[in-house]
Amino acid sequence: MTHPDMSEQTTPVSLLGTLPRSPFERLRELLGSTPAGKAPIDLSIGAPRHAFPPIVQEVLASDIDGFSHYQPAHARNDFGTATGQWLVNRFALDNLDPSTHILPLAGSREGLFTIAFIVAQISRDHGKTTPTIAFPNPFYQVYASAAIAAGTQPIALPAIAANGNLPDLSALDEGLLKSLAAFYICSPANPQGAVADLDYLTQLTELARHYKFIVLADECYSEIYRKVAPPSILNAAQSDSYRSVLAFNSLSKRSNVPGLRVGLVAGDPKLIARFFSFRNVAAATVPGPLMATAAALWRDETHVTANRAAYNEKFTRAAAILGNRFQHQTPPGGFFLWLNVAEHGGSVTAAKRLWSEAGVKVVPGSYLAASHPGGFNPGGNYLRIALVGGLDEIDAALNRMISIF
Ligand SMILES: Cc1ncc(COP(=O)(O)O)c(C=O)c1O
Repeated sequence: MTHPDMSEQTTPVSLLGTLPRSPFERLRELLGSTPAGKAPIDLSIGAPRHAFPPIVQEVLASDIDGFSHYQPAHARNDFGTATGQWLVNRFALDNLDPSTHILPLAGSREGLFTIAFIVAQISRDHGKTTPTIAFPNPFYQVYASAAIAAGTQPIALPAIAANGNLPDLSALDEGLLKSLAAFYICSPANPQGAVADLDYLTQLTELARHYKFIVLADECYSEIYRKVAPPSILNAAQSDSYRSVLAFNSLSKRSNVPGLRVGLVAGDPKLIARFFSFRNVAAATVPGPLMATAAALWRDETHVTANRAAYNEKFTRAAAILGNRFQHQTPPGGFFLWLNVAEHGGSVTAAKRLWSEAGVKVVPGSYLAASHPGGFNPGGNYLRIALVGGLDEIDAALNRMISIF
């Protein structure tokens, strides 16, 4: 259970020297040899399980010869045209030139990781001798690993319900702002599903420009939303040539192809140029047939609409089963439930009971967040439940959950 001290709930926590461990490894250790209370249902892993569209096989087969070539690291090709058009249409942007504003990524994760080396270098050019990289807490583990690998100090900012599950920008002190090399923001957020609105993104962009840091916006859940399509950091930054921001997106969730490993980064052309030079010698390129497949997927919205509808049906079912138990509210984005189990012993105790009494495997929220020195953990009262499986499976798991809690 969490610590009651309110001041801890707004204070950044440094993770220097503590590379985060995989939440799944920790979950395996927690459950150990404890037998499942009923036939197991695994809702712990947030990997998409809906079918991907047949375009994947068709384009891969017709472009198979591309495996015989090395691929460039730039987007001056059909991949660039397709992703540029998609970004302009989806986010109603005025203009985006693929040859200067976009790069392909081998999945957004590697881009979110490798960019840390660039922002660290740029911050030192600005005279920041002990640069920091901030991100929300709870967080996708890559942000902290990247900050540490790039030799910066990782700073986790509480993203709690009282602040809409996003870091409170007004709580950032001047010293921290001045030291920042970059700020990762995840919207829709994994795990809480919070969406940053345009005001929030604009405020963050203004801070970045004033204090000379870079906004790294992880938007890989941008197409998994309930009713309102989330804005991009690109919307907040376009009027000044996307200065100081980069948006990361991916097909993994949008098109159910996490194994294809294709994503993109788009934004500030100066940053894109610097990132390109680095990637051209140091990063994975995306094989040609995969870029061709990705271009076809980004040109098609039909499968994306169907995919979103399938998730939304599950959220509607979950709401009908849960009502307002566990302080449940349907999140505006993403595919996770984030349920408050403070009354049931907190995240670790509740996850263990859910497994041993009901056979349902979920991730304790505390494993997705860093603890403060005083003991407060922003995920400590929550369970993350991935709605990636079938309706029947979710129905059974949630009914089992309400029968034991
Ligand atoms: C928040 C978040 N960001 C980024 C990623 C990386 O996705 P990919 O590398 O498949 O594009 C994931 C994957 O689960 C994620 O949850």
